[in-house]
Amino acid sequence: MLNFFKKNKQAWEPDRLPRHIAIIMDGNGRWAAKRALPRTAGHAAGAETFRRVATYCKDIGIEYLTVYAFSTENWKRPQSEVGSIMQLLEKYLIEALEKMERDKVKMKFLGDVSVLSPKLRALISETESLSEKFDGVQVNICLNYGGRDEILRAATHYALDYKDGTAPQKLDEETFSKYMYSSGLPDPDLIIRPSGEMRSSNFLLWQSAYSEFYFTDVLWPDFSATELDRAIIAYQTRERRYGGIKK
Ligand code: FPP
Repeated sequence: MLNFFKKNKQAWEPDRLPRHIAIIMDGNGRWAAKRALPRTAGHAAGAETFRRVATYCKDIGIEYLTVYAFSTENWKRPQSEVGSIMQLLEKYLIEALEKMERDKVKMKFLGDVSVLSPKLRALISETESLSEKFDGVQVNICLNYGGRDEILRAATHYALDYKDGTAPQKLDEETFSKYMYSSGLPDPDLIIRPSGEMRSSNFLLWQSAYSEFYFTDVLWPDFSATELDRAIIAYQTRERRYGGIKK
């Protein structure tokens, strides 16, 4: 990290880092197509990028990193592609479990994981329970996740909790947030979408109300620590008013 400050005149300010960065890992397919490789090779390269970016976030002191690994809509992809993404996740979790005691990275999964394979579900629950004893950086992986699905699920659970008619007159944001997969997490400060696409694609709809967005044309497998530095520098130029006016 020291080297980074020596080499770069324009660097981010360490005391104003975003607490929570969220990333839509997009562009794996195009990265592979450019190299005449199968799309699955793009996802494998994307998984490696995720590993490097997560390590960098940990090293510089980001508290929460949330990534969009598989959406509720991604089931529309060919079965072979879905299978290869699931395999990459299994591989990643097996390796992460081996290193968890050393790295002390807390992991959480956001989304409906109940429909995933028994093997993947077992790995997820092992990872989450091991994570309970760590209190360092937290990596959240959105898996079979959709923002609209999350809101509908929260509303359903809320209604079920109060089906006896005891619900308070007014439902407040804090109470409703507790029904989200992200319960207990601060909202993302910065959401990054690589690959030139400029939309949210059903990612963290509730939580992104006041997030700063950063878009770049770089494809996710090519995303690097330097790209993350650029996103953080851009974030630090933004003025966050949360609907108020400049102070
Ligand atoms: C979007 O790019 C990417 C995905 C739907 C899958 C992301 C999955 C991984 C990076 C691998 C597993 C993740 C972890 C956390 C180990 P795209 O395929 O839509 O790209 P395109 O728009 O160029 O086709």
